[in-house]
Amino acid sequence: MTYEEAKKMLAKCGQEHVLAFWKQLDKKQRAALLAQIATLEPKSLAQCEATLRRGAEVPDSSKGKAPKVAVLKGKALKDAVDAGEKELRAGRVAALLVAGGQGSRLGYDGPKGCYAIGPATDAPLFYFHARKILARSLRYGKPIPFYIMTSEANDAATKKCFEDFNYFGLAKENVFFFTQGMWPGMTKDGKIILERPDRIFMSPDGHGGLLAALKRSGALADMKKRGIKSVFFFQVDNPLVEIADPAFIGYHVLQGSEYSLKLCAKRDPYEKVGIPMKFGDVHRMVEYTEMTKEQCERLDKSGKLYFLYGSPAIHVFDRAFLDKEASKAMPLHLAFKKIPTVAPDGKVVKPSEPNGYKFEKFIFDILPNAKKAAFLAFDQKDEFSPVKNAEGADSPATCRADMQAKWRRMLAAAGVAIDEKLVVEIDPAYALDTADILARGICLGAE
Ligand code: UD1
Repeated sequence: MTYEEAKKMLAKCGQEHVLAFWKQLDKKQRAALLAQIATLEPKSLAQCEATLRRGAEVPDSSKGKAPKVAVLKGKALKDAVDAGEKELRAGRVAALLVAGGQGSRLGYDGPKGCYAIGPATDAPLFYFHARKILARSLRYGKPIPFYIMTSEANDAATKKCFEDFNYFGLAKENVFFFTQGMWPGMTKDGKIILERPDRIFMSPDGHGGLLAALKRSGALADMKKRGIKSVFFFQVDNPLVEIADPAFIGYHVLQGSEYSLKLCAKRDPYEKVGIPMKFGDVHRMVEYTEMTKEQCERLDKSGKLYFLYGSPAIHVFDRAFLDKEASKAMPLHLAFKKIPTVAPDGKVVKPSEPNGYKFEKFIFDILPNAKKAAFLAFDQKDEFSPVKNAEGADSPATCRADMQAKWRRMLAAAGVAIDEKLVVEIDPAYALDTADILARGICLGAE
C-alpha cells in the first residue's frame, strides 16, 4: 500500500489522524505503519464505530429458558460411541484449538499452551492436547488433523514449542497453524488509537476471529480436502478435555446437529462460565456477567439450579456450517481498557484510567445460526479444570490436583492402587483411559 492509497482510504473512513506524524517517521517506521494500515478494512472499521454508537448486542437473558440437555446412558451412550467411532475410523474428525489468548490473568508471558502443567514432568499444556490426539489417531487408524489458532504475539513461540518437542509425536503434515486477526483500538468517538507515532494500537480479535482466520489461512479448504465432517473445538487452558471424544462426536452426528456443546453442572450458582439459553426457537450463549443474581440462584421444581449447565467451551461443529458462517460478519463485544496513546506533540501517554475500546468476536455467537444445536452433559471432574488464574480457583495447583485425581480414578478402575503420596502422571499416548491401562497391564506390573 502506498502513502496516497492509505491517505485516501483513511480519509474515507474519517481516520486521517493515523498519518498525523508521517513527516516525523523514518523509512522503516513509515513502511511498518503502511503495513498496519493495509490490514484495516473499511467495512470492519464501520462495524466498530457502529458498535460503539449502539453498544454491543447483549441478549436479554430475562427471556431465556434452560435448554434441553442430554445425559447419555446405556443404549443411547453405546449408540453415540459407535457412531463417533465410525467417524473417527473414517478419518472424518478434526481437532481445532484456540490458543491465541494472552493469558494475562495467569501472569505468564509466553503462549499459555507452553505453560508447564505436567505434575511429574512439567510437560506443557500443548503436550497433553497433542498426545491425546495422537492416542486417538492411533486407536482408530486415521489421523485427526490438528488446527491451532495462534495470534501475532504468540505464533512464533507456539511453533517453536512444537518444534522443540518434535510435534509431541504427531506427524508434522497433520498439524496446521494459523493466525487470528487483529483489530485496532478506538476512542469512544470511534477514532483509531495510535499507541506510538508510528504504530496503531491493535489487539487480537477474540476467539470468534477463528472463522475469518480459518478461511483466510486455507484451513477450511484443507479440512474439506481431507473429507472432514466434524470439527472438535477446545480451549488451550483445559488439559482434562477429552479431545475427539467418540460419544460427543457420535451424539452430534446422530442428532444431525450443526453446533453441539458439552455442558457441565456448575460447581456453584455464580461459576464464571457461559450459560446457553433458549430464546424461542434459537439458542444463545449468555455470559455469566450478563446473568442477574435471581437467574443465577433460580431453582427448578426439584430444587436444583434451573440454569444448571454451563459451557466449558468444548464444541463440535459441522464443517460445512463453519464454511457457511465464515463469510458472515460476527457481532463485536467491547472491552474498555487503558490503552497508551500519543499526545499532539508525539509523546506517548500511559493513561491511569480506561480510555479506549478493544473489540472481540466470540465463537459462540454463531450458535443462533445453527439450524440444529445439541447439548450433552458430562461430569466436570472428568473433563474440565482450566488454568485461568495464578492462584486460588482454576489455577495450576487445582488443575494439577484434578489431573492426578482423574489418573488415579483410571488406575483404580484397572485395579491398580497407587500410594496417595506419590505424584501421578500418565502420558495420554500411553493410556487414554482404563481400557488402555488394562491392555498394558504387564508393563504396569513390571514398573
Ligand atoms: C471462556 C468463555 C466462557 C467459558 C470459559 C470456559 C468467553 C468470552 N468466555 O472464558 O463462556 O465458560 O471460557 O473456560 O470466551 N482466545 C484466542 N484469541 C483471543 C481470545 C481468546 O484464541 O483473542 C482463546 C484463548 O487462548 C483460550 C480461549 O480462547 O484458549 C478462551 O479465552 P479466555 O479469555 O481464557 O476465556 P474466558 O474469559 O476464561
